[in-house]
Amino acid sequence: MINKGFFFFALVSVLLSCKHDSLIEIKATEIDCSTGEVAFVNKIQPIFDANCATASCHNTTDARDGVNLATYSSVIETGGVVVKDAANSELYEVLNETGSKMMPPANSGFSLSNMQKEDIKNWINSGAKNSVCDSIISPSLQCDSLMISFKDDIMPLLAESCVSCHKGSTANGSVWLDNYTDVKIWADNGALLGSIKHEANYSNMPDGSPKWNDCKIAKLANWIKEGALNN
Ligand code: HEC
Repeated sequence: MINKGFFFFALVSVLLSCKHDSLIEIKATEIDCSTGEVAFVNKIQPIFDANCATASCHNTTDARDGVNLATYSSVIETGGVVVKDAANSELYEVLNETGSKMMPPANSGFSLSNMQKEDIKNWINSGAKNSVCDSIISPSLQCDSLMISFKDDIMPLLAESCVSCHKGSTANGSVWLDNYTDVKIWADNGALLGSIKHEANYSNMPDGSPKWNDCKIAKLANWIKEGALNN
């Protein structure tokens, strides 16, 4: 019997493999947040990171009920978003359910404020875009995943979420990430990207904190593809 799903999978695999060498371009659309429009990067993903995309819930590894809320693309693919129609979007509906259908579950220790629910509703109703507040307002959140420099892009990301555990005489797992020479070793052997993408066979990093967003992962992946230079 012909399995359409398999053919689709095969087709996607072929398309992806053709694109193997190209860099990942991720650019969130800049919007003017001073108008009150809700930006995905600034407001929505942080809500999911803190309350939903957690271990044994909706992170990439566990994806309960097939729902992965760890990145923009997975939210759109698996989160039950009906663009411009929050009332019919599963992602929004579950926030207002009662009993066992309610998300986050009543006894989970997680809950969303009414303001956060409103933000999710407004984000869906205004088009569920991968949006980010204009960089003039929030430069650090803009994503441009191309032309990546070790000094200006990669080292600051590592310093922010990795170096505390990976430096000095107590470096966890004997992995040092506080200087180029050591980072290059882990970039070349695949463990740096593997652990950040939460791939099988690697420990998920950063240990105990939410997975990096698509933008940061793309920056790292692109820097490695271009030779992991000390640039
Ligand atoms: C809270 C401490 C902590 C933080 C933060 C942390 N790590 Fe780790 N890391 C560990 C520990 C502990 C190990 C060794 C045990 C293990 O493999 O789980 C480890 C191991 C690793 C390894 C080897 C993994 C393997 O499977 O071979 C890599 C690579 C790594 N970390 C990269 C990172 C990167 C990149 C970041 C930042 C995004 C990061 N770590 C943040 C604690 C941490």
